Amino acid sequence: MPKLKSTGSGYSAEMDETESASRDAIMALQTKRLAWSLQHAYDNVGHYKRAFDAAGVRPFDFRELSDLAKFPFTVKTDLRDNYPFNMFAVPREKLVRVHASSGTTGKPIVVGYTQADIDIWSDVMARSIRAAGGRRGMIIHNAYGYGLFTGGLGVHYGAEQLGCTVVPVSGGMTERQVQLINDFRPDIITVTPSYMLAILDEFRRQGLDPRNSSLKFGIFGAEPWTNAMRAEIEHAFDMDATDIYGLSEVIGPGVAQECVESKDGLHIWEDHFYPEVIDPETGQVLPDGEKGELVFTSLTKEAFPVIRYRTRDLTRLLPGTARPGMRRMEKVTGRSDDMIILRGVNVFPTQIEEALLATDWCGGHFIIELSREGRMDEMTVLAEARPESWDGRGLVVHAEKVSIFIKNTIGITARVHAVAPETLERSLGKAKRVYDKRPRG
Ligand code: DLL
Repeated sequence: MPKLKSTGSGYSAEMDETESASRDAIMALQTKRLAWSLQHAYDNVGHYKRAFDAAGVRPFDFRELSDLAKFPFTVKTDLRDNYPFNMFAVPREKLVRVHASSGTTGKPIVVGYTQADIDIWSDVMARSIRAAGGRRGMIIHNAYGYGLFTGGLGVHYGAEQLGCTVVPVSGGMTERQVQLINDFRPDIITVTPSYMLAILDEFRRQGLDPRNSSLKFGIFGAEPWTNAMRAEIEHAFDMDATDIYGLSEVIGPGVAQECVESKDGLHIWEDHFYPEVIDPETGQVLPDGEKGELVFTSLTKEAFPVIRYRTRDLTRLLPGTARPGMRRMEKVTGRSDDMIILRGVNVFPTQIEEALLATDWCGGHFIIELSREGRMDEMTVLAEARPESWDGRGLVVHAEKVSIFIKNTIGITARVHAVAPETLERSLGKAKRVYDKRPRG
């Protein structure tokens, strides 16, 4: 694999050499690495050989970045069809670890790593933590789940690489999370934003002021969340909150990270992951700035190369700011799979989150229920009231106002019910927002 001098070395307060490289230098590196990755996938993974041959392309047809569009996409079912180990490009003995994503139905997707892959992952995660404000010597409370999910171990190795002291607490046992935060005085917390809200509730339940906690930086991801939620968390904890993005198929957390100094979308670590945004209907590559489905090609991975992998996540590419050589992606508003189509109007749970957090009575715990009455689909939003706002009767006038706001801004009719504090189930990791109770078929 072609290497850039001293990539990943020396995680001090400064950026590493690649992070501060020019756009031209990054593009030259990507061209070299893409040629390697396409050849590597073609030579070593039966699926890619068959798919390239069927599309009539060979790795040598790639000469410049725009040539990537000639190559076929990879979709989730390709990975499922090759369960468990047939997408690997190295002999099984060379894998030092596997992870798996928990599909809600059917077989999970299994991904694997060589030692070199783990080193790259640790580097991009270390870079992400540093971009979020983390520094060598800080304590990091890692409440992402450990296990087959990539969140816990991905953050863990990156934090060690940066030189932090990791508290590998994983998700759950919320009371103990708060106790450990109080006793160990971490600087950084890494957790899903929805579980951060559960930790916030627990602080208040124990009569502790979260603003007095030691936490200075939060690195939140693994699920969509809004800038309104960022404001809620930053205010509650008096901390800087940034967004981290990643997916198991591409490597895990650390594919893209928001920089604390700009908080303006996530810089994609483009020296390892090449992004494209496509029209999800036609598959055409869209120009930067246009919104569509995010697609990734890995540039350096050995065990599990992915070529033009369709993430189903919707976003757009923007020029770099805090890291000028690397493009940003806008906060992911949702996956195409999470989109609710209600009487012809498309809605994402994040739009409902925004509407609820614009009130002063809802703190961000909510679920959406879909049902069918007669031939009409109905949406009901159950939104938990903040304890200090709860009137014991359903905040009827306030809930009605949100319903009108949703009608005026999103254009759909939704019933909004305020429910008492502590009534909705808390997630320990990724929140489940939508409960579809409509009859199937
Ligand atoms: O969620 C990896 C991860 C762990 C990312 C910890 C960040 C922090 P998967 O379980 O494979 O991997 O799920 C990947 O989660 O395709 C998105 O739909 C969603 N997702 C991840 N990060 C974000 C984010 C991990 N920051 C899927 N914003 C992705 C919105 C996100 N959605």
